[in-house]
Amino acid sequence: MHAIIIREPGGPEVLTWTEVPDPEPRPGEVIVDVAASAVNRADLLQRAGGYPPPAGASPYPGLECSGTISALGEGVTGWRVGDRVCALLAGGGYAEKVAVPVEQLLPVPIDLTEAAGLPEVACTVWSNLVPVGRLRAGETVLIHGGGSGIGTFAIQFAKALGARVITTARRTKHAALIALGADQVIDYTDEDFVEAMIGKADVILDIQGASYLDRNLQALAPNGRLVIIGMQGGRRTELDLGKLMAKRASVAVTALRSRPPEEKAQIVQGVRDEVWPLLESGAIRPVVDRTVPMDQAAHAHEIVAQNLHIGKVLLVVGQ
Ligand SMILES: NC(=O)c1ccc[n+]([C@@H]2O[C@H](COP(=O)([O-])OP(=O)(O)OC[C@H]3O[C@@H](n4cnc5c(N)ncnc54)[C@H](OP(=O)(O)O)[C@@H]3O)[C@@H](O)[C@H]2O)c1
Repeated sequence: MHAIIIREPGGPEVLTWTEVPDPEPRPGEVIVDVAASAVNRADLLQRAGGYPPPAGASPYPGLECSGTISALGEGVTGWRVGDRVCALLAGGGYAEKVAVPVEQLLPVPIDLTEAAGLPEVACTVWSNLVPVGRLRAGETVLIHGGGSGIGTFAIQFAKALGARVITTARRTKHAALIALGADQVIDYTDEDFVEAMIGKADVILDIQGASYLDRNLQALAPNGRLVIIGMQGGRRTELDLGKLMAKRASVAVTALRSRPPEEKAQIVQGVRDEVWPLLESGAIRPVVDRTVPMDQAAHAHEIVAQNLHIGKVLLVVGQ
């Protein structure tokens, strides 16, 4: 098969479409013939040498894919060769074939290519807004980076839960985010979000980390929950515990990729039970900015690095 390899840590130009050995399914795994994968922010970090794959994971980038099952490993039940699936991966999505533990498979009720961009955002958003953030109908959620893959999914999911949704994004993305259901969009480039949000956010889904911590604490409502999933604004800063104590607030910081397989399986099951019905009913739809041939993954990384996209940039095999 062919896969995108990272020749050495560096810029997009180090991504190279190369012939590599086919994967073999281990017990409990299936082989998926990949239709498409999607670019995630973490892939840019991995390419630059800052986010190595966890032990045992494929060395090729790609945290999700869609495709068709072409082989079953020992002991696999409940799935058949020919099933259309999408999958949460610890790596290896930028390839023509990938081995996937069955617990990380989801059925595909929509267009197969578009489904490639769903597993990572659905699993990240559901696990952080529901079990961790405990977001409930009638509450207010602040979602930073509304135009991202994560943000475009989180806006729709939080609306479907019955929450009031405020999000941050640069102005060129506002109309698209309102169309997805956001009640208010704040242009973080010329407005301090805390002025609009002080004491109002029951839950905050944050991708900036250190640079937003103090202002996020100010934006939290009493009993608020700040859930940090990204560190685009740095990892080290001071935390004023008094601000948390005064509001009886909490801060959680989570990562999906490094979770053990049992936890990933629980999250995928939660997504299948609570998110997939919303996809089937059309309450949530995949937001695809554009598709790029997989062998041109370097071009896709350039687009994402410049934040030109809204939603997901997909990498399509054989396009
Ligand atoms: N912990 C986890 O398990 C997990 C899983 C998946 C993703 N993530 C993280 O979630 C984040 C989004 O991932 P993605 O793949 O969806 O990213 P993405 O599509 O590449 O989007 C990144 C976004 O960051 C926004 N942004 C940049 N500076 C900002 C600021 N100061 N305030 C608000 N937004 C800002 C950009 O929007 P503008 O164009 O509006 O600037 C852009 O939409 C990343 O940090 C990623 O590492 C974490």
